[in-house]
Amino acid sequence: MRKKLVAGNWKMHGSVVENKALLDALVAALGQADAAACIVCAPFPYLAQVQSVLSGTGLAWGAQNMSQYAKGAYTGEVSAPMLLDFGCSHVIVGHSERRALYGEDDAAVAAKFAAALAAGLTPILCVGETLDERQAGVTETVIGRQLDAVLAVSGIGGMGRAVVAYEPVWAIGTGKTASPEQAQAVHAFIRDRLAVLDKAVAAALVIQYGGSVKAANAAELFSQPDIDGGLIGGASLVADEFIAICRAAQ
Ligand code: G3H
Repeated sequence: MRKKLVAGNWKMHGSVVENKALLDALVAALGQADAAACIVCAPFPYLAQVQSVLSGTGLAWGAQNMSQYAKGAYTGEVSAPMLLDFGCSHVIVGHSERRALYGEDDAAVAAKFAAALAAGLTPILCVGETLDERQAGVTETVIGRQLDAVLAVSGIGGMGRAVVAYEPVWAIGTGKTASPEQAQAVHAFIRDRLAVLDKAVAAALVIQYGGSVKAANAAELFSQPDIDGGLIGGASLVADEFIAICRAAQ
């Protein structure tokens, strides 16, 4: 039986003051929840603050991106060992905003995924199609390619130590959520594709849905057989919304 996992992706939002109010509310409502059922992925400068507030609670935290390299002359980059220094357990890799806005291709995402695993972090691998790709009927081709790039480097064993987040690009921040049936179909495709390589890994893999999840639609999405929680953007910045979404996953 897979345990559902909800991760909040704050993206480039927050301030010390805003974060404190949000984190305090999360701890008050969810601090006793099962360990790591809820995760907060904060901007790099706030990881120390998140660590300070969430340490010793049932909540975990992570980052939104990382370098594929462990150290060196890579100005502006942040490595997996640095994330470990601040208590991160998870890191998002291959978010569509990184792919589209910062030119991260499948090979770079695969390298980051492998580097996260090597450091002992759990990568949350984002996959998903654009609206054009969905309308062209190539959703499965695109997601298959994104998965294959990671499998080529880390193998199915690597996938067994990761989380996958299906995020249709057309549903991110648009208010257009994939219907539970649309999302379930893609989640089942991902699980079936991995089951060809290893049935046990595929059966145990947590596959989150991301894309305009909110308190009002979380329970229905999470009730689908292959949807194991969510990767939450905008709604993760609103304490009551995020708390309700986390509760919908428990
Ligand atoms: O990482 C989170 C996703 O991009 C979803 O963002 O919930 O604001 O649509 P959203």
